[in-house]
Amino acid sequence: MIQIENLVKTFGPKRAVDGVTFTVERGEVLGFLGPNGAGKSTTMRMITGFIPPTSGRVTVGGHDVVESPLAAKRLIGYLPEAAPSYPDMTVHGFLSFAADMRGLAGEAKRKAIGRVIDLCFLSSVLHQGIDTLSKGYKHRTCLAQALIHDPDVLVLDEPTDGLDPNQKHEVRNLIRELGRTKAVVFSTHILEEVDAACTRAIIIDRGRIVANGTPAELRGMSDLAGAVTVHAIGADAAAMRDRLAAIPEVARVEQVNGGVRAFPREKRAAGELARVVAELATREGWRLDALRTEEGQLDEVFRRITLPDTAKRAAAAGGGA
Ligand SMILES: Nc1ncnc2c1ncn2[C@@H]1O[C@H](COP(=O)(O)OP(=O)(O)OP(=O)(O)O)[C@@H](O)[C@H]1O
Ligand SMILES: [Mg+2]
Repeated sequence: MIQIENLVKTFGPKRAVDGVTFTVERGEVLGFLGPNGAGKSTTMRMITGFIPPTSGRVTVGGHDVVESPLAAKRLIGYLPEAAPSYPDMTVHGFLSFAADMRGLAGEAKRKAIGRVIDLCFLSSVLHQGIDTLSKGYKHRTCLAQALIHDPDVLVLDEPTDGLDPNQKHEVRNLIRELGRTKAVVFSTHILEEVDAACTRAIIIDRGRIVANGTPAELRGMSDLAGAVTVHAIGADAAAMRDRLAAIPEVARVEQVNGGVRAFPREKRAAGELARVVAELATREGWRLDALRTEEGQLDEVFRRITLPDTAKRAAAAGGGA
């Protein structure tokens, strides 16, 4: 549904987007991650035809966004980063206007407005002026606008930004639900949203894609992935550490809060090292409280691949993350 080939955007000497290529199929929810200024919003603006690319190509539903903007835009619902303000309109007036813009009329328009009011929980503020809404409600009004024509492609720039925890939860569920039948791209700084809503995630840094995979694949890039953590009741931690370190498959051992963690020499199939450690625990008579294989942590992966090299060296020297 969305096809992006070698997309570049320069602003003067700055390459905000520097050769980005990816596709999004129907049934996919793609999470777009990256530090501030990485080029997420700029990429999304080009997907939606809001700004033209310097070079490269975007097609949506087979329509080139630059050559056939109308055909492409018909398929797209877009939540921009900075919600445009229409201070003189009420929420209902704004949604009515958005429906008109999308060519909806009569019964179809009435139904469309009712649908997005329900989806975005707007019924309590329908007749309030947009300028008097709280930030979260403004944001939800803007999201409703993006959904009004029930588009096949959704491009949502930080859709949960500024929402309260309940609304964040609702909007994530909504995104996941919409993703079953549509192609969805959304940007976020909240790494838990990758697990909560995405089928796949891309990490972009200084205009380039630095990682692209399922949430499990990205977590698997973590140093922690595949390590086995053992907690035993009344055990001598130093002795446990020595025994674990003596396992040939173990590269190194470290003490963690109330337990010991063994890192495998090779990231092998999950569970293999855990089995070896469990056998050791039985032989040694450790009273196990917990034994688990770590999945890895997205925030560690994110920091490792997006920190500037100098910061990485400082973190490594300091021993902290
Ligand atoms: N119109 C513009 N003129 C000049 N520079 C721009 C313009 N728009 C974006 N940039 C620059 O392009 C880079 C990428 O910006 P962009 O808004 O795409 O980042 P982002 O990944 O969305 O960041 P954030 O997480 O802060 O929203 C930044 O350095 C930004 O300053
Ligand atoms: Mg942005």
